[in-house]
Amino acid sequence: MKKRILTGITTTGTPHIGNYLGAIKPALKLAGPDTESFFFLADYHALIKQTDASLIEASVKDIALAWLSSGLDTEHSNFYRQSDIPEVHELTWILSCSAAKGLLNRAHAYKAVVAENEASNADDDKAISMGLFSYPVLMAADILIFNATHVPVGPDQAQHMEMARDIAGKFNHTYSKIFNLPEALIQNEISVPGIDGRKMSKSYNNIIPFLCSEKDLQKAVSKIVTNSLEPGEPKDCNNCNLYELYSLFGNAEQIASFKQAYSDGISWGDAKKELFTVINSEIIPIREKYFELNAQPDLLNDLFADGARKVRPQAQELIEKLRDLVGISKIV
Ligand code: TRP
Repeated sequence: MKKRILTGITTTGTPHIGNYLGAIKPALKLAGPDTESFFFLADYHALIKQTDASLIEASVKDIALAWLSSGLDTEHSNFYRQSDIPEVHELTWILSCSAAKGLLNRAHAYKAVVAENEASNADDDKAISMGLFSYPVLMAADILIFNATHVPVGPDQAQHMEMARDIAGKFNHTYSKIFNLPEALIQNEISVPGIDGRKMSKSYNNIIPFLCSEKDLQKAVSKIVTNSLEPGEPKDCNNCNLYELYSLFGNAEQIASFKQAYSDGISWGDAKKELFTVINSEIIPIREKYFELNAQPDLLNDLFADGARKVRPQAQELIEKLRDLVGISKIV
């Protein structure tokens, strides 16, 4: 069986260079000629965390453009929105009827909220929606609807992948061996520091954007927090967020000479200029593509329609089989 790679991106927020390095770039690398790849926008998952409709809409657009500008080839891979494949929800229900509640009780994301509630003496269920609780079943359905063989995800999703396998196995055992057990490809977490040195995250307000003008990129880089060593004073590249960022973009030779510049006492102003240059040279083609795509009003709607047209028949076929298996089909 050909390798079938599938991964979803929850549509909350705007991608930053941390997402680019940690998720987009590694996933695109996996999409070689001998693999089938499925990349989709998990917009129904986003509803669990975001109730502002306009922010969901903006995020779908930003994330789609980020993937497309970064080189996603929609001719050779399948790119679609979760919401354009309604069979996913039918499968979610079918799986929910056999998935064990006890399994879902153990989900880290759910347990974390329960623990917070307990710590603040609130009701255990405070702020816990059925969506949050059932999140792993919807994710399992995303994967199983296309019988994916390999699922690249971050380490935080390892447990959800085990649950997807468990849910698939239970169904196979109860009815018939219809689902392939998907394998998680756990991606090494690339630690990308934000401008304040903490992990780059929208919630810390410390991101460096990449779908922006050159000027805005420069502005974000200039805000990187450094110590107060003067020009001419040697600087330590260990535990230095600016240096770490540089090493995520530079090649070996550039990194070595940047390290030397630190020992030679480069000023923070100049170090930021060099960092900007090295990030910018990687981002230039992406930015150009982004502005070009962003100017085409119907592009995304057309692409989403095409994407759904390509993959949805497979989902429909699987649902037909499942209906037969569970006893919901034509009466004979
Ligand atoms: N839960 C994943 C995340 O937050 C997103 C996701 C939804 C996903 N459905 C998926 C990832 C299916 C892989 C496969 O990162």
